[in-house]
Amino acid sequence: MSPSIQKKFKNPRAKHGFQGRTCSIAAVGSYVPAKELTNQDLEKLVDTTDDWITSRTGIKARRIAAEDEFTSDMAAKAALRAMVKGGVKPEEIDLIIVATITPDMPFPSTACWVQQKIGAHRAAAFDIEAACSGFIFALEIGQQFIMSRTYDTILVIGAEKLSSIINWKDRNTCVLFGDGAGAAILRHRPAAHGLLTACMGADGRKADLLSMPGGGSRCPATIDSVSNGLHFLRMDGKETFKNAVNAMYTAAQEALRRCEINISQIACIIPHQANRRIIDAVGERLGVQPEQVFVNLDKYGNTSAASVAIALDEAVEQERIKQGDLVLLVVFGAGLTWGAAVIEW
Ligand code: COA
Repeated sequence: MSPSIQKKFKNPRAKHGFQGRTCSIAAVGSYVPAKELTNQDLEKLVDTTDDWITSRTGIKARRIAAEDEFTSDMAAKAALRAMVKGGVKPEEIDLIIVATITPDMPFPSTACWVQQKIGAHRAAAFDIEAACSGFIFALEIGQQFIMSRTYDTILVIGAEKLSSIINWKDRNTCVLFGDGAGAAILRHRPAAHGLLTACMGADGRKADLLSMPGGGSRCPATIDSVSNGLHFLRMDGKETFKNAVNAMYTAAQEALRRCEINISQIACIIPHQANRRIIDAVGERLGVQPEQVFVNLDKYGNTSAASVAIALDEAVEQERIKQGDLVLLVVFGAGLTWGAAVIEW
């Protein structure tokens, strides 16, 4: 990054007494299952068309995990790829945080399964649940541990097997989602600004807009709960859409304000990959140029907590993000939840 740009933004962490300590994303990695389910394949399952799905969402295909491939398997593969790229050994990892709404099982945590699978036996491990916003929430939690000097190396993962909670007879939802995982390794890196800020928000008054009612303490699994479809994801698409646009716009503005930068200084914007029309509407309100925005939802659909993590890895691989660039992540999900993060790469 040129020195002239470097002076044009500040690290909001500095005012909280974190001088000298920064939290960087040292490496990223991702994994998607091999099996591709195209819009044409879906035409054979439900009353839909490639044209409807493409024009309403921008999605052309999604990946579906094998029956014996679980969220922790995808998470571990993404993590190992990030570890190889970052030159990080399993024993160096202090903490594993997995963001997911499709854990392998209610307990133990998917993070503990990942710990076993990657051999990071020294690490503490836990899951967080903030639906599609989970990866930014997990990044923010992880960076707090780095900034407070509690830990030096943290593995943050967003991973989902959404195909396991989709009603494959409901055309309103089954066309939207896919499976996959993305991972980031957080480290203190001297002389780098790293994660400049992350804002998070939630509105539990709108919890009903997007949910899976069955399987928890409110509605444990029974024959009736299964036959009534309560273990499938449910969504009010139109309301979710409106809330997504407003929340992502507001979160992005807040993150930019905290860093005292404007949108034109962002080299790459990585929005939650839910719907092309949501991304375009948020982009229009923010005044972004199309080339600033990274989109891969045409290939993978909405992978919830994995979405921005996979996109971040692909953007780095495709050299859409280079060292010194300012990157904006912006997310939205069930809860409702939302968030945005600014990173100096
Ligand atoms: N194929 C064909 N028709 C479909 C369809 C499909 N896959 N899914 C829904 N339809 C139908 C509806 O039944 C409705 O028919 P009707 O008018 O006869 O009732 C019609 O298409 C229009 O539905 P509508 O809800 O108005 O479409 P929309 O433009 O709002 O698009 C979504 C629907 C789901 C794509 C859109 O609302 C959306 O993306 N919402 C946000 C979803 C999201 O991102 N969720 C995750 C957030 S993290």
